[in-house]
Amino acid sequence: MDNAKLVFDGKEYELPTFIGTENEPAIDIKKLRDTTGAITYDPGYGNTGACKSSITFIDGEQGILRYRGYPIEELAGKLRFSAAAYLMLFGKLPTEKEFTDWSKALTQNSFIHSSQVNFLDHYPSKAHPMNILGSMVSSMSSFYPHDSEDEDHVNINIQRLVGQVKTIAAFSYRKSVGLPYIYPRTDHSYSANFLRMMFASPAEEYVVPKVMEDALDTLLILHMDHEQNCSTSTVRMVCSSMANIYASISAGINALWGKLHGGANEAVLDMLTQIHQDNGDYMKYVNMAKDKNSNFRLMGFGHRVYKNFDPRATLLKDIVDRVLEEMGIHDPLLDIAKNLEEVALKDEFFIQRKLYPNIDFYSGILYRALGIPTEMFTVLFAIGRMPGWIAHWLEMRQDPDLRIQRPRQIYMGPTLRHFEPDGTLM
Ligand code: ACO
Repeated sequence: MDNAKLVFDGKEYELPTFIGTENEPAIDIKKLRDTTGAITYDPGYGNTGACKSSITFIDGEQGILRYRGYPIEELAGKLRFSAAAYLMLFGKLPTEKEFTDWSKALTQNSFIHSSQVNFLDHYPSKAHPMNILGSMVSSMSSFYPHDSEDEDHVNINIQRLVGQVKTIAAFSYRKSVGLPYIYPRTDHSYSANFLRMMFASPAEEYVVPKVMEDALDTLLILHMDHEQNCSTSTVRMVCSSMANIYASISAGINALWGKLHGGANEAVLDMLTQIHQDNGDYMKYVNMAKDKNSNFRLMGFGHRVYKNFDPRATLLKDIVDRVLEEMGIHDPLLDIAKNLEEVALKDEFFIQRKLYPNIDFYSGILYRALGIPTEMFTVLFAIGRMPGWIAHWLEMRQDPDLRIQRPRQIYMGPTLRHFEPDGTLM
């Protein structure tokens, strides 16, 4: 590919270009400031490639999502969460033996340090589980050695993170409802263990319904990675300072919490519930979303990258229909969601802005059917996203181009002025 030409301030400059494996062209501006004196202005980073990555490919125009080259449609619902996590982390699907060993290692490393359980016990009873998760993961760097670059050492920390995130999540729920903690078992899959830790009673055997286990596996896989989104970029930003894996991941969890990102799934359900209580008047909410004088947005609609459809939402909509039918559930919120989608997809406001349902639009209805309380929705997203965050952390550590991430700014504040002390501020 030819170099790009830039004419700036009367001079012409050549900028190197390169092309990704899926033919995405890029202009390398690493030397832009050195040669031209100018920097780029790209608020929200919509045009900025912060790294080269071989983990996930997205084509937002065509609604394509692939993990390590595999289309999401060939993975979701077709393998267990831990097998997909292995693919995400190590770049290849596990053999049967690798899958068994890895699944066992995840369960063996899913027990929380007993001092950490004390720590969890002392959160206020109304603490949001995302806050608990972020700080519990951050506290793991106090409990486990983390500075070694030795592969075995890094691997055990990965197993702890993927293994323990679901335990912390389930324990925070059990604590919020005053139920005793249930520990994971090696004869259960990842998702079955999570459901058991959430819903079993210590007084009797709990058989995890297969429909729930499979649905949860699928949901978690659909959330596993989404290249340089807000939380993953946060993990990378923190990692670039050589912060430890627990500190980096905990920062990502906090970034995910916001309602424009992972927190949207909770916001969608709140919105659908509100519409339901408002006699199902969904048109009122469509009109509010279109009203420039209102700050209201249709939660679960729109995406920075997908400008056609979100393939995860398409898959999820089918799964929701299937699982609810199999579980014999009729959820009026699903009817409202479908009505909203139908109206919005025909409305010029949404068509012009290319606003389609994103993954969060239907995920909440499925979580609800599984009995997951609303404030746990974003935590479920974090469990699914954990292997993706770690894969980026690992990739970044091995990247020969790794530099501390440090964007610049265009200063627009006051120019030089002087302070004349008169003693009043002393
Ligand atoms: N409802 C109504 N209008 C919307 C919505 C929405 N959900 N999303 C975007 N718009 C409008 C904006 O008002 C803007 O209109 P304008 O051009 O007339 O000013 C236009 O569409 C572009 O919106 P931006 O905010 O510039 O788009 P951006 O790419 O920055 O934001 C985002 C993407 C944050 C996802 C946005 O669409 C949104 O807020 N959606 C609702 C929250 C949500 O569902 N988040 C989950 C995202 S997926 C995930 O994180 C897993």
